Amino acid sequence: MRVDDLLPILCCSACRGELVAAENGFRCSACARVFPWERGVARFVDARNYADNFGFQWQKYALTQMDSERTHASEIDFSRKAGLTVDELRGKRVLDVGCGTGRYAEVATRYGAQVVGIDLSAAAEVAARNLADRDFTAMQADVFGLPFKPESFDVIYSIGVLHHTPDCEQAVKVLPQYLKPGGILAVWLYSGYNKWYRFSDYYRKVTHRMSPQKLHRVLSAAVPVLNRVDQGLKLIPGIGRPAAELVHYVFPVNRHPDPTWRVLETFDWYSPKYQSKHTYEQVFRWFENCGLVDLRVVETPIAVRGRKPERAGVEIERESWQQELQHS
Ligand SMILES: C[S@@+](CC[C@H](N)C(=O)[O-])C[C@H]1O[C@@H](n2cnc3c(N)ncnc32)[C@H](O)[C@@H]1O
Repeated sequence: MRVDDLLPILCCSACRGELVAAENGFRCSACARVFPWERGVARFVDARNYADNFGFQWQKYALTQMDSERTHASEIDFSRKAGLTVDELRGKRVLDVGCGTGRYAEVATRYGAQVVGIDLSAAAEVAARNLADRDFTAMQADVFGLPFKPESFDVIYSIGVLHHTPDCEQAVKVLPQYLKPGGILAVWLYSGYNKWYRFSDYYRKVTHRMSPQKLHRVLSAAVPVLNRVDQGLKLIPGIGRPAAELVHYVFPVNRHPDPTWRVLETFDWYSPKYQSKHTYEQVFRWFENCGLVDLRVVETPIAVRGRKPERAGVEIERESWQQELQHS
């Protein structure tokens, strides 16, 4: 987006004042704070924060999960976790909360959306590079202090992000204010139904304190070994599979068919400081508390989407129109 198109939806992330264009960035006309535009990214937070592990991860695996001519894995994932269609995105202004490398924003721009991607970490720089030729704007910002005016977006999605904040419930609840009436919110969070991750939660108490470089070195060595043990055990008739499941339960590492994805996903699992798990009951309650309607579950747990009601008159009109449709 051009600066002229951005300014009407932006505000100061500190005092909510009006932003004006300044040399290489924005300045708040109320508190005079300056937000620089560096390496393709508008910066609304300090460079270093609790998400530095993700900055390291996405700089290292900048292209691994981006779709290409060979794979549409992220597009399939996007559909299973956000359930957003081409019709819902074409021509819409969309916010990707925690965009990482921009793999889902790439899909949304391919569908014709104008996307703003925010991320707390230096991943925003990777997304800016990956999507330099798209209708995409990258910002380094915190979901708890977004630099946007209310009702700025038609669609907001956040996939695999809000459970990595200190307070997932509040992170979900801050988002509806930025939706236009009738806009859609879609989130995907880690599932709390199956307790397979019990052991990894213990290990993470230690692993999240390791430097990202060191943890990555450890996992680059351990993941291939555990994968070979897993594959080897499964070849043993009878007790092989239960034994493989037991080892996997005690030492959970990712089982993706691609070895690079396995290390990346395992690092993504063990490096975050915050990682909460959730249920549909919780997320539905949060959406309802925010007044969202038309709630529905999407394919991969825990994926929930809902709609911000139109303004009262339009909402009543829409309901009677829907009732008419049901009776016809
Ligand atoms: C597991 S990654 C997911 C990235 C991307 N959505 C994807 O699935 O490829 C989680 C992302 O959330 C970002 N994040 C964590 N806390 C955040 C916050 N408070 N505000 C914005 N982004 C945050 C991290 O920097 C990281 O890039």
